[in-house]
Amino acid sequence: MKIGIIIGSHRQESQSAKVGQYLNGMLSAAKTDHWTLDLGKTPLPLWDESLFTEGEHWSMMDGLTQQLRDSDGFIIISPEWHGMATSGLKNFFMLLGAHSGVGHKPALLCSVSAVDGGAYVIAELRASSYKNNRLCYIPEQLVIRNVGQVFNANEADNDPDTHKYFVERARYCLTLLGGYCDALARVRAQDLVDHDTYPNGM
Ligand SMILES: Cc1cc2nc3c(=O)[nH]c(=O)nc-3n(C[C@H](O)[C@H](O)[C@H](O)COP(=O)(O)O)c2cc1C
Repeated sequence: MKIGIIIGSHRQESQSAKVGQYLNGMLSAAKTDHWTLDLGKTPLPLWDESLFTEGEHWSMMDGLTQQLRDSDGFIIISPEWHGMATSGLKNFFMLLGAHSGVGHKPALLCSVSAVDGGAYVIAELRASSYKNNRLCYIPEQLVIRNVGQVFNANEADNDPDTHKYFVERARYCLTLLGGYCDALARVRAQDLVDHDTYPNGM
């Protein structure tokens, strides 16, 4: 099983990346293969029409599409910025169509806030972001509030009770994500999906 982690922050050293790094470690401990796209360190070009005519700056999409196709499921991490998911993450989704390799695969949503925010991101991404690419968000989610107190590599920087709670909650979500990876692989294997006839969702 292979999980792709997408970090939505535009900041090069972000709290979202810190959370992603911690989840990386948990996946490694569970012997689950994984890879990370950090949009802060590897920003994608902003969508333009030449995406469809294979403009030169889109050549990087081949490698990304292959990584997405090779994955069984995803973790989508976004900070809450101005009560929204980041524009870089929304751009990422605009670049993914029906044949991008994420369709009918499960994704765990994870929002990040320095304070007590994070809910708007979850609501936004559940409402929009999957229509054409057909990513399937699982019903559990992680809302990492007061992110400075948890998932720090240096244990001394963590609030012990809060950190323990989030680690256990994350472990539960990752296990569940694995279950959905198995389940949706069986759906995809049934040859029911027809993105040639219906390239865009309604
Ligand atoms: C432009 C901007 C807008 C922000 N807006 C919000 C917000 O609406 N709600 C919130 O809880 N935190 C907000 N924050 C603070 C983030 O929660 C904080 O930066 C946190 O570390 C997650 O972002 P990061 O992954 O980029 O580090 C904002 C931060 C930035 C840079």
